[in-house]
Order: sequence, then structure tokens, then C-alpha cells
Amino acid sequence: MENKYVINWEKYASLARQAAAEGAVLLKNDHQALPLKKETISVFGRIQFHYYKSGTGSGGLVNAKYVVGITDALLEEENLSVNEELAEVYRSWIAEHPFDQGCGWAQEPWCQEEMPLEEKLVEEAAAKSDAAVIVIGRTAGEDRDASAEKGSYLLTDLEEDMLSKVCRAFERVIVVLNVGNIIDMKWVDKYRPSAVLYTWQGGQEGGHSVADVLTGRVNPCGKLADTIAHDISDYPSTENFGGDTFDLYTEDIYVGYRYFETFARDKVLYPFGFGLSYTGFGITCSPAEHRDGETIVRVKVTNTGALPGKEVVQVYVNPPQGKLGKPLRNLAAFAKTKCLVPGEEQELTLKFSDYDIASYDDSGVTGHKSCYVLEKGSYEVYAGTDVRSAEAAGSFEIPETEVISACTEAAGPVRKFERMRVGKGGVLAWEEVPVRTHKMQERVQTETLPDITYTGDKGYTLGEVFDGELSLDEFLAQLSEEDLCCIVRGEGMCSPKVTPGTAAAFGGVTESLQRYGIPCGCCADGPSGIRMDCGTPAFSMPNGTCLACTFDTELSEALYEMEGAELRKNRIDTLLGPGINIHRNPLNGRNFEYFSEDPYLTGMMASAQLKGMARYGVTGTVKHFAANNQEYHRRLLDSVMSERALREIYLRGFEIAVKEGKAYSIMTTYGAINGLWTASNYDLLTTILRKEWNFDGMVMTDWWADLNDEGGPASTDNLAAMVRSQNDVYMVTQDSLTNKDNLMKSLKEGTLKRGALLRSAGNICRMLMKSPVMERSLGRMSEEEKKAGEVMAGEDKVDFDITYHKVDGKLVLDGTEIDTSKGKSVVYGILLDTFGSYTVRLKVKADGSELAQIPVSVFANGHLEGTITINGTNGEWIEIERNIGPLFGPHNYIRLYFAQGGMKIQTVTVELQEEMSRGF
Ligand code: BGC
Repeated sequence: MENKYVINWEKYASLARQAAAEGAVLLKNDHQALPLKKETISVFGRIQFHYYKSGTGSGGLVNAKYVVGITDALLEEENLSVNEELAEVYRSWIAEHPFDQGCGWAQEPWCQEEMPLEEKLVEEAAAKSDAAVIVIGRTAGEDRDASAEKGSYLLTDLEEDMLSKVCRAFERVIVVLNVGNIIDMKWVDKYRPSAVLYTWQGGQEGGHSVADVLTGRVNPCGKLADTIAHDISDYPSTENFGGDTFDLYTEDIYVGYRYFETFARDKVLYPFGFGLSYTGFGITCSPAEHRDGETIVRVKVTNTGALPGKEVVQVYVNPPQGKLGKPLRNLAAFAKTKCLVPGEEQELTLKFSDYDIASYDDSGVTGHKSCYVLEKGSYEVYAGTDVRSAEAAGSFEIPETEVISACTEAAGPVRKFERMRVGKGGVLAWEEVPVRTHKMQERVQTETLPDITYTGDKGYTLGEVFDGELSLDEFLAQLSEEDLCCIVRGEGMCSPKVTPGTAAAFGGVTESLQRYGIPCGCCADGPSGIRMDCGTPAFSMPNGTCLACTFDTELSEALYEMEGAELRKNRIDTLLGPGINIHRNPLNGRNFEYFSEDPYLTGMMASAQLKGMARYGVTGTVKHFAANNQEYHRRLLDSVMSERALREIYLRGFEIAVKEGKAYSIMTTYGAINGLWTASNYDLLTTILRKEWNFDGMVMTDWWADLNDEGGPASTDNLAAMVRSQNDVYMVTQDSLTNKDNLMKSLKEGTLKRGALLRSAGNICRMLMKSPVMERSLGRMSEEEKKAGEVMAGEDKVDFDITYHKVDGKLVLDGTEIDTSKGKSVVYGILLDTFGSYTVRLKVKADGSELAQIPVSVFANGHLEGTITINGTNGEWIEIERNIGPLFGPHNYIRLYFAQGGMKIQTVTVELQEEMSRGF
């Protein structure tokens, strides 16, 4: 029988390839420019040789074993002939103008210098080929937003020049975009290429996926997860995006197509949900039926064209304006067909509940303050293949306004400002946002906490709770104040207590906690594959935007089942992802990690991933809760928004992930919502998340996040505020036993109750008991899983026991045993007392000729710090060195990678260069 724990890498790669291909969105295809036939093509643009598998930052640091580039993949095509001469011109130019990685965190440029094109070169290429493919790439990521400038959201002059020259010389030009999320598209009208294909960042198999779509092996079936407007200034959030200390969400719930379809239809270039196919589809719809709180829409899709393909049906609702005012279109359901051959039909049944289309009344104008309501009137249903062309599919009447769910006022703004609404005659109007009428601090203080009398050590273990022999309360009663303070402090990054190179350990982080049988859980970034900074390879996934554009939850679930297997193999309990923040503005640097401007699509895609991982008993930590919509000043930023916008747009995806995807791990953000830093925001984490949505899992902070009390300043040491709000774990401390924070002091002063700590300890223990680490710690790993470990040990050895060497200013290691043959690497764990920049010095020799090129790459915690290439040294020992860091934690990894054999190493020295402090 097949061992389910042995990863089938071929299946993994093929699912990822399929997902990236089916996420590609074809925006234009004049005169059937695509698919490519048996013909010769010329490929332009340097990114054909440096495929962006993902964006940058924590979500982009997967050590993929390979990344398939676009031209690499096209060259594999038997029926296609690629203009090799042109490819050679690019290769030599790139050798002179290598990829600029920038230096350090968030420093990689968002675009690479393009090769200038001479008219003659383009004309020669045109003379010997049938079509041109232009590849344009962009990246962006954590800690730095995109900008509405050339080289980021806009094309550079050289890219425009390339488009202009190639479009002039060739009759058929296909533009392929390898980008994290949408970019400015004005150039389409200006240069009029025949076809435009968004292929996003498709992970390590991305190049193959592009070739699949270009050649027609996969018929494009991706749909835009975001509206593409004429200009960045057309997005209503642009005006307030990029604030130093706060962003006003004046557009309120009118985000993305909700804004454009209601107020600015003419500003749209490509509507939400849009994407072409190489075939045609006919859609017929029977009128929507509304019964018992549910609406059902039956749609028949027929392939009316000449090629097999898939289609996505989207159902939108136009609710009555009522007193609240509402967007004219709201996505309520979607479904994708199977691959239909020409003439084939499929009937799809799409459903949504009243709650799915209810509006939240944050002012009381309907007479039902703090309730989700269906206002009286006619609800029109639309079905189709994008938000603009979706056609009427019946309607239903709600005779009297109905309360669908009564909630508690929570997390609203304290600052007065105005928000958009639909005014008389459907025009854009403004109204004052209702401010919060309660004091959150009062709720915190009057909260009922677990009342469990301290018993001291009774010899009980968590295993007994796990086995149902003991209640969790009886177990927790044993924990001392110190234990309780330690359990809410996660440790990382790269804690030696869990899988090397991962982001954090949580739970049993001290010896004392471990004596009670509390294991150490492990989490690793995410979202697009596993990040292990010591260099362990992992599979790199298509990015969030790409997966959202598939509109295919089944495919995502199947793909994330493979991710689940890989997490299990690496002994990771939770992936730090999916990232599910809303694409509020196209310039957010982390949009590539997130799915869409629409919360329903976001929530459904997140749930699919969680369900996939759950098949292996692991999960994802859904992040960042909530409104992590800007990278600039992310630690300082207060997102100021109405409670309605918060609930209907920014929390909705999380709510779906909890209710539908059964999420049990959530990460908060660096910033604040309405004055309260999310990692200590009681309303967010207790009133809404726990009390309304019944979430019973664990919440962790983002790494070194700030915390505050209502009205108080933000700091990294107010862990008491964190615990009071029910954010359970602080990520990350270097050492939970000695961490300097206010927990003990607050306990002594009575501002933090033991009960609050017990409540978080319970949440953490429940999470651990759901995770594979629990059984493993009890020595109950199944024979099947153990066997799989042995089978897979040969392929990618995961070294769970890296030795740490203490660096007291300077450390000298013997290098004579290092295997320096081609493709090998060696990893050292180094333990630092002093943080700052370090030098790695190698005493090396090589026997090759003077012209031999023998490189060694030096990585620190997964970052390439540089490659040093030596020539043959005539048998002499020489010293080479590279500065690394700054390094700010005690546990770090240095990896030396040998791309070429031939170097001998005598010693490896690590020495402090300059002491530094983190600066916050
Ligand atoms: C990011 C998180 C990430 C964490 C751990 C932070 O900088 O915001 O998304 O999971 O680091 O790497």
C-alpha cells in the first residue's frame, strides 16, 4: 500500500504547475494570437532568464531546488522553435549585467535593468520568426511597498522602448507579465500588442506553466482577482495610502469592484473576474431561488468553441440601497467547471446564505445597531463570467428588514472622519462615520476569566489530557506564574528547539514546561512554501494572487495537501500563511502574498488551503489579522476605518477561514486598528474572534510586534496587554526565561490576572494537542510516518540536530572535513552573545589553473551574503572573507555552498566586526 507520508514530488510539481497555469489571466487575444502554433518565436525581456517565483521578504525565502524560467520551458517545447541567436544576445548581456539582488532585507529592487534594444536586432529577429513574446517582470514585498513610479507600478523607459520597437517590427506580439500583482496597463492601448497574459509569480514550476498556456496545452481559465483601473489615482484608497502614522479608510466598504461598479464604471480597464479563453462558452441560468435563508442559482455552461477548456461562473448580488447604502455588486458565490470539450455542457449549482449578503449596521440607522441585517427590498442576482458582464439571474424580495445576526459593537473608530456612501440618485456622497461608544478597556477589566486554583506540581502531563484522562483545567492548575509567563513567549527565529531554520518555537519552550509534557510546536513561513533559513530545500508554490485567480478551491486544496505532507516531513506544525489581507490598494508591497480585493474569494481560497493541510494533521496560521494593508511604517500605522468596513471587508476573509476552513491558528499584525495595536486589541481578538466566531485556537503576534493598552503608547514589552486581549503568544523572544517584558511585574501589581495567562495557556495547549508534535512527543509517531522518514532520508536530508558553536567574539572551526564537491553545502549553527555584523573568513586553496573559477557562496540565515570566487592558488593557502549580518538573535546559521568543486578549506573563522542593537 502507498505510504501517504512519502512525498510524491512529481505529483507536487504537476499540481503546482497546473495551478500556476490555471491562474494565468488572458486579458487580450486579438485574432487568436495565442495559442502559439508550430512556429518560431523571439523572446524579449531579461526576465525570461530570471523568473520571479515569488515576491521578497519572509514570504519569498523558500530554498527551492530549482526554478523553471520561461525561456527554459519554451526551449523544452518540441513544436516550437525559439530564436536562439536572440536568446544568446540576452545571455551575454545578462552576464555583463547580472541580476541585482540588492543588499539585505527589503533591498532587492522591484525591477531589473532591461537590455536596451537596437532596432536592427529587433528587425532581424522579426525577419526570422513568426511571433514575439515579451516578458516583463516585477517584484515587491515585505517592508517596502510598490510605488506609482517607473520600475514599480509603471513600466520603465527601456521596457516601453522594448514594447514600442517589438510591436512595430512584429505583427504578433504576446506580452507575458511575471508580476506579484497588478501593474499599470495603460501601455496596452499605446502599443497594442496582440495578446496580454498575466502569469503572476508561479513558484518554482512557473516557467512550465507559462509554456503550457502559451502553447495551448492549458487553455487559460484564470480570472482577475482584482479590478484593473486606468490609473492608480482611480483607486479610491490611493489618496490615503502611504500615511506615516495613520491611513483613513474613507472609501469604507467600497473597495475594488465594489467602488468601481457603484461609482466609477468608466475608470475600469479590465473588470474583476475577467479573463479570456481560447474557446467560447455559453451560459444560461435559471432564476435564483431564495428559500429558508439560502439562495440557489443553477447555471448551465456550454463550451461553444473549438477547444477544450474550463470556465468560472460568478454570482453577484445587488441589494436594495435601503438606509445603509450598498455596493451595486457583491460576489456571493463562484464555481469552476471541469474541462469541457467542445459542445459539452455542465450544470453548476451555486449557493449563498442570507448572512453572506447581509450588511452590518454600525450606526443604528436601520433600527438595529451592531447587527447584520437584510434590509427590506429587492435583491437582484447576477450571474456571469466577470462582474461587469454578469447578467440578471432573477431576484427575491425581503418584505421587512431582517436581523440576520445580532453582534456587539466592537473595534470601531474613535477618530471622526467621513466615509463614502451611495447618495440620492446613486451618486457618491459622504457621511460621518459613527465612533465607538464603549471603552474597550472597561471590557478588558470586567472580563470573566478562568478561575482555577493553583495546585503546584501534581505530576500530571499534557499527554494525560490528550488521552482524555484529565481535564485541561486540572492540568493547567499546576503551572506556576513563571511557567505561565514563559508559555506565552515564543522563541525564535531559528530556535534550536524545533526544526532548524524555522521562524519560531512555541509551547514547551522551557525545561519546566517540558517536564509537564508540553511539547514545543514549530512554525515556519509561508505562505508560498516552507522557509528554512539554514538552507533546507522546500517546494516553492505559486503566489496568493495567482492561486486566487484560478477561482478553483479544489485545486488549491489538492495542492495544499502536498504542502501538508511537506510540513509533516519537516516537523512543522503550522505554516505561517495563508496571507489573507485584502488587496485594498495595488501598491501594497505584500499583495503578492495575499489573494484578492474581494473578501469572499479570499476566505474561500484560504479555507481550501487549510482543508488541504488538515489532511496531514497540520495547519496554516492565517495572517495578518487584520488590515495589514501597507508596508511603509507598518509598525507605526493606525488603520482608521468604520466598524462596517472592518467587518464586511477586512475581517470577512478571516471569518470564513475560521468558520469554513476551521482555522485554529492566527497571526496578528504590526500595526493598529482604530488606535489599538492588533496584537493587544481585545475587541478584535476576544469580542469578535472568540465570542462571535467561536474561535478556540491560538493567536500569535507578528515578529517583535508592538502592543498597547487603549490610549497608551505602543511598545514591545507590554505583553500584559497582549495576554489581556487574548493574543496568546508573543513572537518572538530570544529566551523565554529571561525575556524583559512586563508580565511578572503586572502579575504582582494585579493588572494582569493569573486567569488571563491560564486562558492563553489553554489556547496554546489546545493548539499543541491538535498538532503532530503532540503524538511525536509521546513517542507515538506511526510506523508509516517513521518508515517514510527513512525512505525520504536519501533525497533531502532534514538535519534536525544542527550543532551550535558559541562565538565569543571569535570562533575558529576546522574545515578540513568539509565536502566541497559541486552542489554540496555545509551548515553551522552559531550562538551569539553579541549582536551586530560579523565576518566569515575562510582559509582556502585550490589546485586548478589560474583561470579556474571556484566559487563559494556564503549565506547567513538564508540570505545570500555574497559569493567569493577564487582561482587556482598553486597549492598556497589564501584567506578570503565576507561580511555577514547584522545578526540580531542568538541562534543563527551560516551556510557555505559550493557551486563548483575544487576548493579545500582549512579553517572557517567567524568574528565580530561591529556590535549593534536592533533599534526598536
Ligand atoms: C512577517 C510575517 C512572518 C514573520 C516570520 C514578519 O516579518 O510580517 O508575515 O511570518 O516575519 O518570518
